[in-house]
Amino acid sequence: MNEELYKKAIAVLDANFQEGGFTIPSAGLYPFQWKWDSGFIAIGFAHYDVEKAKAEMRTLLDAQWENGFIPHIVFHTDNDSYFPGADFHQSELHPLSSKKYRSTGMTQPPVTGFVLQEMYRIAEDKEDMLNYIKEDIDKVFENHVYFYENRDPQNEGLVYIYHNWESGTDNSPVWDDIWKTMNPPEYTFVRKDTTHVDASQRPTKREYDHYLHIIDIAKQNNYDDAKIAELSPFLVQDPLFNAMLIKSNQALIELYELIGGNEEKIKTILKWQAKSIKSFNEKLFDAELGAYVHYDLRNEKPIRHITSSSFSPLFANIPSPERAKVLVKTMMDKFGGDDKYLCASFDPTNDRFNPKKYWRGPVWINMNWMLFLGLKNYGFADVAARMKHDSIELIEKYGFYEYFDCRKNTGEDNTPGYGGNNFSWSAALFIDMVNTD
Ligand code: SER
Repeated sequence: MNEELYKKAIAVLDANFQEGGFTIPSAGLYPFQWKWDSGFIAIGFAHYDVEKAKAEMRTLLDAQWENGFIPHIVFHTDNDSYFPGADFHQSELHPLSSKKYRSTGMTQPPVTGFVLQEMYRIAEDKEDMLNYIKEDIDKVFENHVYFYENRDPQNEGLVYIYHNWESGTDNSPVWDDIWKTMNPPEYTFVRKDTTHVDASQRPTKREYDHYLHIIDIAKQNNYDDAKIAELSPFLVQDPLFNAMLIKSNQALIELYELIGGNEEKIKTILKWQAKSIKSFNEKLFDAELGAYVHYDLRNEKPIRHITSSSFSPLFANIPSPERAKVLVKTMMDKFGGDDKYLCASFDPTNDRFNPKKYWRGPVWINMNWMLFLGLKNYGFADVAARMKHDSIELIEKYGFYEYFDCRKNTGEDNTPGYGGNNFSWSAALFIDMVNTD
């Protein structure tokens, strides 16, 4: 193991940890608490500072709304280096929003269940960790109740996202087809992200117009879920989001079994699981592409593109072993050439692929971490080893950046890492991966 790099990873996380008991993803660019970042960060902390791992999750779950919803950004401080901030989002419009913290009115992938389980797996003092989990696990359960009761209008076991920022894969080419169905106004605003990061690595102004317009529609309806389901131009069943929900469901079942005395909740989750996994396999698998795809619920059609999210069901044990083989073949054929690091965020053989631009091609360590574990569990030991190797090599080569060029040879003299530097989840999941065989 590279001891120096390991120490650097710890230094990145510790420097980004804030007094309020949460960790910023990256100084300047992302100055608040982000939901899925927090989950991955807690996994990193669990390896060397259990109290910080608990604080991270406690603080996130403390920002839960009375209806079980957990927001995607918790605005702990007034900081004008990020747009759109608390004043734009106005979470207070929702009658059940947190009275303690201002936040966004959208969520992010449901990481909290499987993160609690990872913290338990990593902890040396299991009893102490289980005592913490007992304090907070019902909040995660209530969050899943929220999803199934409010985000599944056709009662399929598949929940929708109403904004691309809910997916975490913000400007994926998958959304381009939805943007074509919309014609948002030209907003006047001052971007902050492009003062921290080269604009060529970030979404365009016109893409931001779409992002803001969807929020405006939700705000006009006080973030009411039923109204959003009826009116939002963006309503998508995302394979990554649903895979993480299913993974977290499974984690809740196993943790409740350890805790004991929660039979009713386990029964409820088992019912969700059966329905969700069945619908996922029936509705989101595209046999011709050999991959899972997104489904556009607003326009009732599949979005037939392959992304790193297409392979995320491996992480949640969703495909049959036969189907898993098909997925891995697709991944290796299209994403896995010797000239590339695994795993590009978007199909490198597609015209919309861009190796430098946010979620339109670069490699992300959180996706690689999920795919590494999924491949390992299905017995694809060689591909799993390559996923881990490539992730570590990218960090060794570029540093703890937010995302990376998947091309081994970019044809440029000095290709940098992209997005934010000293990026928390890259450090946290590096720590976890080097500790996992
Ligand atoms: N990732 C988004 C951003 O770039 C928000 O979640 O600001």
